[in-house]
Amino acid sequence: MTVRDPTTLRRLYGRSKGRPLRVGQAELIERLLPQLSVPDEGPIDGRTLFGDRRPLHFEIGFGGGEHLAYRADLLPDHGFIGAEPFLNGVAAALMHVRDRHLANVRLHHGDALQVLERLPDSSLRFVYLLHPDPWPKARHAKRRMINPGPLDLIASKLEPGGEFRLGTDDPVYCRWAMMVMSRRTDFEWLAETPGDFLVRPGGWPETRYEAKARREGREVWYFRYRRA
Ligand SMILES: C[S@@+](CC[C@H](N)C(=O)[O-])C[C@H]1O[C@@H](n2cnc3c(N)ncnc32)[C@H](O)[C@@H]1O
Repeated sequence: MTVRDPTTLRRLYGRSKGRPLRVGQAELIERLLPQLSVPDEGPIDGRTLFGDRRPLHFEIGFGGGEHLAYRADLLPDHGFIGAEPFLNGVAAALMHVRDRHLANVRLHHGDALQVLERLPDSSLRFVYLLHPDPWPKARHAKRRMINPGPLDLIASKLEPGGEFRLGTDDPVYCRWAMMVMSRRTDFEWLAETPGDFLVRPGGWPETRYEAKARREGREVWYFRYRRA
């Protein structure tokens, strides 16, 4: 059976361009991005990306990069890989990298799944998926990142005991994610009390989409899963 979801559809949904870049942003894309881009092809690992065997973190769809930059600043000895198809987001992330002098970040302008599949199995300590596009209509459910194909990929790339963090402000996505994740035996939900998924855990900064949701009076749910 073909699983119809983002890993098998091989198609990126959503916008990749927004407002025209300001001059400073365009310069960062031209000068800084090539210095810290994930190579376009071939296998990649801690050594090829950072020159050593440091713990690796991967963020799917980092948006403006505020979470990625915060985590990279917090853990300078770890390596952070982020992928985002939205060019303005990449430019925003580059600004954080420059302003915080981060030497432990590598970026991919494009599909996260294409980078994930080139990493060795069991090579990631953390995977982050924060406020993924909700695709609220049932007929678009196959486009959601929380689907068997992407989750199999994430599971295979996480090291045993590694952590998958998911945040969402969308009630449909929240229910969907709980349903899909509850069927999996390879992820253990780390929540013990409601507070564990209603209150933002420490070391998990607010993203742009989370802030927007809070401003608009919406709830946010935080999920932490341990790879078995
Ligand atoms: C709702 S935004 C959330 C952005 C950010 N994580 C935040 O919390 O502010 C969802 C992001 O996922 C990105 N996205 C969608 N499909 C993706 C894919 N296949 N690989 C990487 N990013 C993707 C979109 O471009 C968008 O920036």
